[in-house]
Amino acid sequence: MKLLALSLLVAFSAQAHAQPTLEATGRWQHQPVGTAPTPPMGWSSWNAFRVDITEQKVLDSARVIVDSGLAAAGYRSINVDDGWWLKRRTADGRLQVRTGLFPSAATGADTSLRPFTDRIHAMGLKAGLYTDIGRNACSQAYDADSPNLPEGTAAEREVGLMGFMRQDVALFFGEWNFDYLKVDGCGLSSYGRDRPHVASGQYREYKPTIVEGNINQSDVDGTRKLYAGLRDALREVRPRGDYVLSVCLWGTVNVRSWGQDHGTMWRTSRDIANSFSQMVHNFDTVATREFYAGPGRWNDPDMLEIGNGEFDGSHLLEARTHLGLWAIAAAPLMIGTDLSKASPALIDMLKAPEVIAINQDPAGHQGVIAYADSDRQILVKTLADGRKAVLLFNRTGVTAKFTLTAEHLKMDAAAPIALRDAWARADAGTFTGSKEFELQPREALLFTATGRHLLPRGYFVSERPGNVYVARDGIRALEQDPIGYRALASWSTTDNGGTRPAYAGWGGPRADSTPYDQALSVQRQVFRHGVGVLADSRLQVQVAPGSQRFTARVGVDDSTRGKTAAVSFEVWGDGRRLAATPPMKFNQPARELGADLRGVRLIELIARQHGAEPAGPVVVTWGEARIE
Ligand code: GLA
Repeated sequence: MKLLALSLLVAFSAQAHAQPTLEATGRWQHQPVGTAPTPPMGWSSWNAFRVDITEQKVLDSARVIVDSGLAAAGYRSINVDDGWWLKRRTADGRLQVRTGLFPSAATGADTSLRPFTDRIHAMGLKAGLYTDIGRNACSQAYDADSPNLPEGTAAEREVGLMGFMRQDVALFFGEWNFDYLKVDGCGLSSYGRDRPHVASGQYREYKPTIVEGNINQSDVDGTRKLYAGLRDALREVRPRGDYVLSVCLWGTVNVRSWGQDHGTMWRTSRDIANSFSQMVHNFDTVATREFYAGPGRWNDPDMLEIGNGEFDGSHLLEARTHLGLWAIAAAPLMIGTDLSKASPALIDMLKAPEVIAINQDPAGHQGVIAYADSDRQILVKTLADGRKAVLLFNRTGVTAKFTLTAEHLKMDAAAPIALRDAWARADAGTFTGSKEFELQPREALLFTATGRHLLPRGYFVSERPGNVYVARDGIRALEQDPIGYRALASWSTTDNGGTRPAYAGWGGPRADSTPYDQALSVQRQVFRHGVGVLADSRLQVQVAPGSQRFTARVGVDDSTRGKTAAVSFEVWGDGRRLAATPPMKFNQPARELGADLRGVRLIELIARQHGAEPAGPVVVTWGEARIE
């Protein structure tokens, strides 16, 4: 009995969510991994060729990237995905390149990708490579019939980083001079004893520590530690930080929260495919994570499928929608098609300068959902010069009507708002108050908007999410995120019990919404603008220079699960406590909280819970949180 109780305790504590300190630190805590002030852009071999990859195919697309002006438009990283390796030489652990596919790597017994990266660099481009954090890669589990898989004994087939982290990182970034590394996680998920490729003795068993769609059976801390080791190895080999580290864990193991501290970008969902519904599904996995991205750290809904399947040259509307969504989400833009076969129209589309400018805007704010139902969405992204980018998205197969309002844009309804069509690169008139649109099936319109801000001399915290670092999210037990379009994966069928919510991170802070997707509301006072978060949280907010004052109307949100515990609200500036409320409870009116920000560069918004709350998390609202 005692033993059982003990083992239950151990299992439970393995799932408990380790929380960083609630106390203000006074310094911006995000430490960039690598360098990417704006979302990384480039081309990757995977969506175009899977493991059927050759050096020539990569170079052909790289050539088009340069000649067509795509490189000038920003697409500069040429990334070799899975399929480049032959084996790990067991005598010294050195990885061997498959020279049959990469002839320039046949430099002698060692083989080397340096001639390849030299060529890419000589073209003015950057070079990227792929590996896995475990012993084996994804192709070895999922492309078992390919002739291009690593060869030899089980040990020789262990081409992943596990056990060889420092050696491989030194090889990739030192000797071979790559600039970008994508690190997958199949080695941790797909080599259980029950898998045929393991049962047959081809690969060594690795008891899965990632179980997709099952956060409680996944080892969050263990996975995180492996990626921390990788990050530290990279920092050692490339102390100048001139690289991109792409974490590929498909939204599992709560990577949607910790990715920003372990990589330059991190995948938030399973693999994209060239179907519209899967693209929408992937988009949804980033759309509610606005506070986790910003300059140097990017949510990654996966590589583009433009040019393929439902986004090919005869589906330019869908292709534009795909790019528009990635643009408003400040997502990395990795072309995933064989560019040597792409039509001029498609290449032009990929270059669309005003669309790319929205994606690459230096302020690095991800678009925030201003309106959403199952069929329509409106997202708004604050640009560095104060304009807004706005995307209207008809998710359905029929035409749909939209009303865009000044309020969506956080602009004054009494002043004219000028729209510019980012695709047409043309002014699209002005309106006052609101404007009607009718969108084609699957269409997304993308504009920039100029108008008078709702606040004459300030801005809402929720419209600059890239200035926020979630130091502590208040989540006590990790939960799957039920929000999002549940697409049937292209490699699956409807005979499997249904697609289920799969991504941990439910309950993280949100802009203009509670963490659980309700309207912000304190004792029935509804706030259209504000930040929703769970108690025992700390949000760091970078303050625009010259700011004078922070104000918010704070309280326990009406949607709270825990209705008894009290919460106090504190504002700290550069490590000093500036203002606080007494403990407040559910169904008490919102209180005004203000702080003098003169000379302050960083504020920390702390919601401190008093006492335990067995009924569940206490949801709190920083209503109208603004900086003036
Ligand atoms: C995983 C990744 C893909 C791709 C393949 C390669 O599925 O998520 O993006 O890299 O592995 O095998």
